[in-house]
Amino acid sequence: MYRQLYDSVLVHTDPEAAHHAAVRAIGAAGDVEATRRSLKNSLGRLGAPVRNPRLLVFPRPITGVLGLCAGMDKNAEAVLGMDALGFGFIEVGTVTAEPQPGNPKPRMWRHPELRALRNQMGFNNEGAVAVGRRLRDLRRTTAGRAVVVGVNIGKTKVTPLEDAVEDYRRTTREVARWADFLVVNVSSPNTPGLRELQRVDALRPILEAVRAEARQVSGREVPVFVKIAPDLDDQGITDVAGMVRDAGLAGVVAVNTTISHDLGPGGLSGAPLLGRALEVVRLLRDRLGPRPVIIASGGIFSADDGAALLDAGADLLEAYTAFVLEGPAWPGRVNRALARRA
Ligand SMILES: Cc1cc2nc3c(=O)[nH]c(=O)nc-3n(C[C@H](O)[C@H](O)[C@H](O)COP(=O)(O)O)c2cc1C
Repeated sequence: MYRQLYDSVLVHTDPEAAHHAAVRAIGAAGDVEATRRSLKNSLGRLGAPVRNPRLLVFPRPITGVLGLCAGMDKNAEAVLGMDALGFGFIEVGTVTAEPQPGNPKPRMWRHPELRALRNQMGFNNEGAVAVGRRLRDLRRTTAGRAVVVGVNIGKTKVTPLEDAVEDYRRTTREVARWADFLVVNVSSPNTPGLRELQRVDALRPILEAVRAEARQVSGREVPVFVKIAPDLDDQGITDVAGMVRDAGLAGVVAVNTTISHDLGPGGLSGAPLLGRALEVVRLLRDRLGPRPVIIASGGIFSADDGAALLDAGADLLEAYTAFVLEGPAWPGRVNRALARRA
C-alpha cells in the first residue's frame, strides 16, 4: 500500500518537504504513549535481544540488528517514534558544534528508477546544545531510556579543518552523556574538505579527543565509531581499520553516500551502494580482526541484503533510503525476518 502511495503521490512532492513532514509525524506519534504502544504492537514488534558477544560494548541490549541511519532524525526529534516502527537502534545527527542551516535548496533528489536518493544537505541541524537538551529530556523518560541511541557528530562548516579536533570535542561534550555510542562522521561529501579527515594522521587526534571527552563527561567508556565513505580505496580502508584496532575503538560504520556517479551534485544512497558496501565490510572484517563492531549501511532493501552484509562480517545494519521508499512497516518486517534467520 505504501509503495503505491509513494509511486503515485509522494514521488510528486518536494523530497525535503516530504522528509520533514514524515519525521514530524513519526515524532508526534512517538510522543503519545497510546499511539507509540499501538505502533510498536502492530508494526514494530521485536523479539529477544540480538545474541552477539561483540554487542556487549553497548550499554543496553539491542533487540533488532537493523537500525536507523544518521541523517533522517538529525535533531533527535523522533527517536521514540522510530523505535516504535521497529528499528533496533537509532542513530541521530549529524550534529555539529554550532547550529547551521546546511546548503541552499534544492538539496535532495529522488531517483526511483535506481531505488536511490541523492543529497547535498550539508549537515543542517540545530547544533549540539539543542540536540543535547533533547536527548537529556528523552533519557528522563522510561521509554527513552530503553532505546539504544547513537549520536553522529560532524564538523561545523565554518570551522577550519585545522580546528576540527576542538569542534568535535565541543559536540561530544554536549551529547556524550546521553549517547549509547558516538559516530565520528568524516565521510559526508557535502561539507568542504571533511573527507580529508579520513586520513589517519588527521583522524587519530579527533577520535582520541572524542573518546577522552566522552569518558570525562559521562564517567564511562562510550563506544566510539568512525563512519567511512564507500569511495575510500582499499588502502585507505586498511589504514582506518589499523587505526581503529590500534586505538581500541568500538568499530566502524560503513558506508556513507558515494560521489562516484554522474547524476548531479551530492552523495548517492540506496541500491547502487550495496555492492561496494559488501566489499568494504568484507575488507574491514579482514583488517579489523574479530573484536571491533561493524555497522553496515548502504543499499539494504531486504532481509537478504542484510543477511549478505552480516555474512560478510557486519554485526549490525542501518538503513535510510529503503525506509523512505518502502514505508513505515519496513523496518519491523526486515528485523523480524532477520531474527528468524539467526
Ligand atoms: C537525505 C540524506 C541525508 C543524510 N544525512 C546524513 C548525515 O547527516 N550524516 C551521515 O552520517 N549520513 C547521512 N546520510 C547517509 C546515510 O546515513 C547512509 O549512510 C547512506 O544513505 C547509505 O544508506 P542507505 O543506502 O540505506 O540510504 C544521509 C543520507 C541521505 C539519503
